[in-house]
Amino acid sequence: MGDTLRGLVLAGGTGSRLRPLTYTRSKQLLPVANRPILFYAIEALVAAGITEVGVVVGDTAREIEAALGSGSQLGCRITYIPQAAPLGLAHAVAVSAPFLDGHPFLMYLGDNLLKGGVSDFARRFREADWDAGILLTAVPHPEHFGVAVVDDRTGGVVRLVEKPAVPPSNLALVGVYLFRPVIFDVVHGLQPSARGELEITDALQQLLDRGRTVHAERVQGWWKDTGKPEDLLEANRLVLEDLSPQRAASAQVDDESQVSGRVVLSDGVVVRRSTLRGPVVLGPGTVVQDSFIGPFTSLGSGVRVSHTEIENSIVLADAVLDDVPGRIDGSLLGQGTRVTRRRTAPHAITLVTGDHCLVEVL
Ligand code: TTP
Repeated sequence: MGDTLRGLVLAGGTGSRLRPLTYTRSKQLLPVANRPILFYAIEALVAAGITEVGVVVGDTAREIEAALGSGSQLGCRITYIPQAAPLGLAHAVAVSAPFLDGHPFLMYLGDNLLKGGVSDFARRFREADWDAGILLTAVPHPEHFGVAVVDDRTGGVVRLVEKPAVPPSNLALVGVYLFRPVIFDVVHGLQPSARGELEITDALQQLLDRGRTVHAERVQGWWKDTGKPEDLLEANRLVLEDLSPQRAASAQVDDESQVSGRVVLSDGVVVRRSTLRGPVVLGPGTVVQDSFIGPFTSLGSGVRVSHTEIENSIVLADAVLDDVPGRIDGSLLGQGTRVTRRRTAPHAITLVTGDHCLVEVL
């Protein structure tokens, strides 16, 4: 038992909406501005003074452990908590009971990004006597989210419902929750919902039914759930908005190239006869020749771009873009992807795609 706030980061799940990228890697390790989304989550917890962090892992456990290690590089100590199947957020809480060991805890969904962090929210929780705390934000389609009805005078939550057909408000739950151990009184008795998951909104509603207090606050700054490709691109844009320019000593840009706006040039980057218009991040060893790299683009390590224009996109490591006609826009390209122009007849489009790929041709 203890009063120190612990962290619980959820990095299991299926990631089905981000296929095919999630066939080969964990959704939480997809990069935003060339850093895995999950790193932002752990950093937010550490900034809030949380040093004991449990990371719930599923099928991609090995990959997550390889990326985060002991946590020491991020300033915390990580305990990995296997979840046999992604049976819901409340299930993830239930399997974490031995790690949480009677401590209050902050649960953070490992695919979420919050500009404002969680430090203020955690501080208020430490000083307050609420049994649980949730963060809310107004959304245009509340029917896709857990939705809360709040008493505006007290900030107390009155009612919660998961993905309601007729939403009682437009206030969606963001992927950050604060709990005291009383949550286990309801979590262990929960029944699966219609979609077969143990829902955290049901657990919160049961706290309310028992007269417990669930406090709600509005998110400060932006919040992004990176569940779908367009969300990942938007998260990339939002993070790149705050990019600080950097240029590694070993980065080379020739006199025929133009670099404007905020650009990060990592170790070993080579840029020749090209235009880079920030915000742009080029990962280590990226080579750009005779090309245009437009705003809001992140190129991972070892990417090679020649005679190609690209903007508003995320390209993972070792991809090759060569002589692509038109401009690539709003794209998410997996590791080692090759997009090239066919130079010999027949002048046909040749595709070798994995399952659930999306290809839009001109
Ligand atoms: P979701 O995005 O709701 O679920 P998912 O990852 O299975 O994605 P999809 O719907 O595209 O198949 O999960 C939110 C976060 O919580 C995400 O980081 C995965 C994690 N999670 C778990 O760790 N365990 C679980 O049982 C569930 C449902 C999610």
